[in-house]
Amino acid sequence: MRSLTSLLLAASCAAVLLGTAQSSVIEPRLYNAVRFPDPVDDPFYKAPANLASLSRGEIIRERPVDTIVGAAAKSAHQILYRTEDSVGAPDAVVATVFAPHKPAPGPPKILAILLPQDSASFHCSASWALIPGTTNPLNTAVVGAPNLPAFYAALAQGWYIVAPDHEGSKATFIAGPGAGRASLDSISAILQHKATITASTAGYTSAAYGYSGGAHAAAWTNQLASSYGSSLNFAGAAYGGTVAYLRPVIDQLNKSPFAGFGGAGIAGLANAYKELDDYIKTVVRPNGTAALERLRGPQGCTHNEIGDFFGKDVYSYVTVPNVLDEPIPKKYIELNNLGKDVLQKPAFIYHAATDEVINTQQIIDYYNDQCKRGASSIQLAIADPSTHFVPLVTGLPPAFIFLNKILNGNLDHKGCSMTRGLVPSLSSSAAKTALGQQAVAASFALRGTKIGSETINF
Ligand SMILES: *[C@@H]1O[C@H](CO)[C@@H](O)[C@H](O)[C@H]1NC(C)=O
Repeated sequence: MRSLTSLLLAASCAAVLLGTAQSSVIEPRLYNAVRFPDPVDDPFYKAPANLASLSRGEIIRERPVDTIVGAAAKSAHQILYRTEDSVGAPDAVVATVFAPHKPAPGPPKILAILLPQDSASFHCSASWALIPGTTNPLNTAVVGAPNLPAFYAALAQGWYIVAPDHEGSKATFIAGPGAGRASLDSISAILQHKATITASTAGYTSAAYGYSGGAHAAAWTNQLASSYGSSLNFAGAAYGGTVAYLRPVIDQLNKSPFAGFGGAGIAGLANAYKELDDYIKTVVRPNGTAALERLRGPQGCTHNEIGDFFGKDVYSYVTVPNVLDEPIPKKYIELNNLGKDVLQKPAFIYHAATDEVINTQQIIDYYNDQCKRGASSIQLAIADPSTHFVPLVTGLPPAFIFLNKILNGNLDHKGCSMTRGLVPSLSSSAAKTALGQQAVAASFALRGTKIGSETINF
């Protein structure tokens, strides 16, 4: 391990000394590690001095990238664009944008794919998890690769994709407002990216998709679309395994194999809100300070988060019992719950019936609350029986059928409906039409994949 690290260091120094023109002399295995260093060290990610004077969605810089999506896309670029974080401060965020080989007929259709970065560490930025051959291959394997079927499906449909780093430059995991804003502004940004959308953008439609941590961002995108995103032509969103209410989820995660997600959520919220961070410093034990440091550092990506905190009682890191009932934590938990606004845009929401990671009841409670308050169109599908990572795969056919309808303006569903099961199945011909052969094959290839304590069985 040490020798690999020093090899990589030597290679990066060589590249810096020789300049990028010489990068072709680097051994292919190391090429991307040098070209796309850790986001913390990569100047591409740095905000410019004039950030505050830029408009929302304005592109600051761009570069072509090699991604794990590979030849399924006609082109892939990273763009750095201006957005706002959860407290309304300007932020510079990277999004990865893709063009399909054969755009769908008619005006451009854009899908924002929100990846589950699920980490309070900027080292783990979602954009970096889409690059093969980086110095953190496990982040690519856990955050990027399991979402490849969604990328293949959107590209096969002829849609443009924007995958923003919705946690922003402070890695504000599970902070909702910033995620929604970064995602909506990323749609404005791709509309301005001529290298991706070469045709006229007149009449375009856009939508969002995400699973798990990405679902939280997609849900916030949908919620904020009619306020913050009102200038966009945004048609709705499909999301599965969604955190609607933080408290029951963190409580369920605590002491479980996925306890690290809860700890990372608290660390990420504290990254977003200084008052919360200051409060935590007054109650944290030394082992909690060490845990926060780890969750925010180079070891803070999901694979380590799951491994390091397996079964841990994250509440034991602080001196106060029932810490999330204290006024300051309570305030920020509530601020980041979904449901302040009633959904004006259609949603297809799906969830595992026996979800051991993201509590199932809280999404049903959210659905009931939204429907009682008059949400325009929500379809909730409960996959029965299944554990958390199963609908990531089995939910794709109904999610993409729904996305196709909203992007083409022909969804015929008003009000609320809740169903059991996810149909059509992945092996149906309807799934092949909705997703394309490559996405179906990549979905089946995920069968048997182990994420933390769960094996994806379907
Ligand atoms: C943190 O330290 C406290 C006090 O020593 C201890 O009771 C608690 O179990 C520790 N928590 C973890 C998760 O190690």
